[in-house]
Amino acid sequence: MLKITPTAKALADSPKKFTRLVITEDPLSKHRFVENTDGTTMYRMGIGKWKEVTPRTFRTIIRSIVQAAKSHEVEALALELPFAHFPKLASYGEAWFMSTIAENLLLASYEFTKYKTKHKEKGLKEVLICGVTGKLATAGLSRGTIIATAMNEARDVANTPGCDLSPSALGDAAKIFMKGTKVNVTVLKETEIKKLKMGALLAVGQGTKSETRFIIAEYWGAGKTSKVKPIVLVGKGITYDTGGLNVKPSGFMHDMHMDMSGGSAVLAALAAAAKLGLKKNIIALVPTAENAISDDAMRAGDIVTAMNGTTIEVLHTDAEGRMVLADALTYSERYSPRAIIDVATLTGAALAALGQHASAVMTKNEDLQKTLCELGEESGDLVWPLPLWDEYKQHIKSHRADISNIATNFSRYGGSIEGGTFLAHFVPKNVPWAHLDIAPRMDSIPSDKLAKGSTGEPVRLLVSFLEQY
Ligand code: BES
Ligand code: MN
Ligand code: ZN
Repeated sequence: MLKITPTAKALADSPKKFTRLVITEDPLSKHRFVENTDGTTMYRMGIGKWKEVTPRTFRTIIRSIVQAAKSHEVEALALELPFAHFPKLASYGEAWFMSTIAENLLLASYEFTKYKTKHKEKGLKEVLICGVTGKLATAGLSRGTIIATAMNEARDVANTPGCDLSPSALGDAAKIFMKGTKVNVTVLKETEIKKLKMGALLAVGQGTKSETRFIIAEYWGAGKTSKVKPIVLVGKGITYDTGGLNVKPSGFMHDMHMDMSGGSAVLAALAAAAKLGLKKNIIALVPTAENAISDDAMRAGDIVTAMNGTTIEVLHTDAEGRMVLADALTYSERYSPRAIIDVATLTGAALAALGQHASAVMTKNEDLQKTLCELGEESGDLVWPLPLWDEYKQHIKSHRADISNIATNFSRYGGSIEGGTFLAHFVPKNVPWAHLDIAPRMDSIPSDKLAKGSTGEPVRLLVSFLEQY
């Protein structure tokens, strides 16, 4: 992993082994690598007009530094970025500035190499950040390091193929995430899940011998006996989604090992919150199952009873995420939550609506919507709203049961909203709740300047939310 070291010293005083990054106001594409006669090396990098740099472009600049270092085989880099030179970033504060630098250096240098037999460690190993003085700056750097490290752990788990990440393995990963923190992890097995009557979760997982699990991670940072109600995070943990008997077509199945990205994100966010020592009570719930195909698999047309007693007509076996989340949302009621956020790679329709630059947020709570959109912009995990109007409820009113898991007319229009509307049915009454459909951000795109595969989003957004809410 990349090592980030802050120093109060100036860039010109950094040891020779570090290539010195000098930023210029040339366009972002204009770079030059220079070898000086005194044995030092310098990398001149155009980043455009400093006064024009926004949070969005700033994150890209930091990631470009890592890409440039990789292509020039620079292993050690020294840089100095004075906060005061970026007027459009001023209002976010110096701690944010430093955190953003650490986050994006670490996220951009991540690679998933576990399955490469001939891999040689190349690329950036060490970054010296010069001119760092004061508590705000150092606190920001360590915050960013904690968050990005958690996020990269989430990416490792999400990138792991379905053959090596069963629901029980995801339970083990949750325990590894929380090592060294005060988070308690409990992983419920099928017998316990049956006792809880989580019929929707069990139905999704019944087609495979990889047993279903229900992961509970509790962090009582404000004290368990205190009157402070917890924030509950719920994450979809489908370790592989074949689509079930309504099997996915080829080209749409191979990356469904990442269908547990919501689950790994909420666990990583909780781990980071605990490492940051937040004085909050936070619970993460991850219903985890494999949506497989066999003679035991749930059928299209089956009717199952969810934990809250609602009967669900399974009109489509590929709409499994909302079913496992339904029982987790019911379970959350026992915590009397202050707020619930669920995070799920729920619908391909979210990609149709937003493309691959932002996740969708759905909530009836205006305050939550505003907060999440603003923190998305600030953190880089962009989210954009879709409505959750009552008009959509009639689409999933079942003929044979209480509710159906897709629109009864099989229309795919507004598919993301129908997913959100289904979930709303299971949310404890009068609790502020938001649904994040992160399918658009499951897999990285070239403009992200990240390794192909899991993005680790929206861990940054969730941590910012937990800090502020
Ligand atoms: N895991 C998928 C959604 C998905 C698609 C995530 C693409 C990431 C990228 C989900 O379980 C699913 O299959 N949804 C269906 C819902 C439909 C049957 C109503 C979909 O989007 O097609
Ligand atoms: Mn599916
Ligand atoms: Zn799925």
